[in-house]
Amino acid sequence: MILGIESSCDETAAAVCIDGNITSNVIATQRVHEQYGGVVPELASRAHQQKIVPVVQQAFSEAGISVKDLSGVGFTQGPGLLGSLLVGTSFAKGLAFSLNVPLLPVHHMKAHILAHFIDQPFPEFPFLCLTVSGGHTQIVRVEDYLRMEVLGETSDDAVGEAFDKAAKMLGLSYPGGPEIDQLAKSGDSQKFSFSKTVMPGLEYSFSGIKTSILYFLRDQMKVNPDFISQNIHDLAASIQFALIQMLLDKLVLASSETGIKEIAIAGGVSANTHLRNELEKIGIRHHWKIHIPEFEYCTDNAAMIAISAYFQMKNSSNNEIDLEVQAMPRMKF
Ligand code: KG4
Ligand code: ZN
Repeated sequence: MILGIESSCDETAAAVCIDGNITSNVIATQRVHEQYGGVVPELASRAHQQKIVPVVQQAFSEAGISVKDLSGVGFTQGPGLLGSLLVGTSFAKGLAFSLNVPLLPVHHMKAHILAHFIDQPFPEFPFLCLTVSGGHTQIVRVEDYLRMEVLGETSDDAVGEAFDKAAKMLGLSYPGGPEIDQLAKSGDSQKFSFSKTVMPGLEYSFSGIKTSILYFLRDQMKVNPDFISQNIHDLAASIQFALIQMLLDKLVLASSETGIKEIAIAGGVSANTHLRNELEKIGIRHHWKIHIPEFEYCTDNAAMIAISAYFQMKNSSNNEIDLEVQAMPRMKF
């Protein structure tokens, strides 16, 4: 019985995994950041401190277990915001030490990928995973539960960040990705186009398109101050189309270069409707076996941390409590 704790950014989350099955998954989303248009690290850290105990207690009660039943404590070690990570790390260390059970540090981005092993059907190894969140954009070759290799990633902004910044330019609230997704549903994705930076191989870059959107809106607003409000649906659809196209082009290249046709997506942006629909279509064309996570496991959650800790514990002979383990804001993959 493993407790998983997630506190890397602005969700305080706890989940229980019993023999590889998730039996509770509790998430407290911090609303305090909405008024600032982005996550304020100090406020995030304080909110984690307030919420971590009730969230963990609720995870125990929903799983029908007591703290004494635990056989391991998993937590997000990084990457993420230092002040936020410290809350989960300290809590996990204290709990594991008091119970004398293994302390299992988890890499947040690897956990997004391992979320695919919560519900059947599981991907078969090796598979490719497009991991897309607010801080990362990566194509990962997954050999097994613990061995993963980044084949390509962004050299600047992450795609989730591009969604959120574009949304901010459109006057939408934070996080803007889901709002763009919603507005795009009744928009024309071919109405506007934006210039993109073409990167070699499997690398991504989103700073060029972000600037292109900014200049386009600025020029249009000079001519017509109501341009954004009059075209909000078409703008959302066109921006979304361009960003998702960039993601998929490289994924197709990665599959043809590696010969791997078992394809998964993970991370917050994998909740995007257009990405999910397009992937299904491309998958049919290229004879891919597609793995799309349930919505609740796309954005940050602790079920993915608990399942990762479970695989770590199962596949490692050394599960001692190492109280020297530190939170790592820029943890290497
Ligand atoms: O994985 P996640 O919850 O947190 C990080 O680890 O960063 O990802 C958050 C990101 C945000 O940028 C958010 O705007 C984006 O995922 N996101 C979406 C959608 N849902 C969340 N982007 C586009 N469409 C969505 N439906
Ligand atoms: Zn995440």
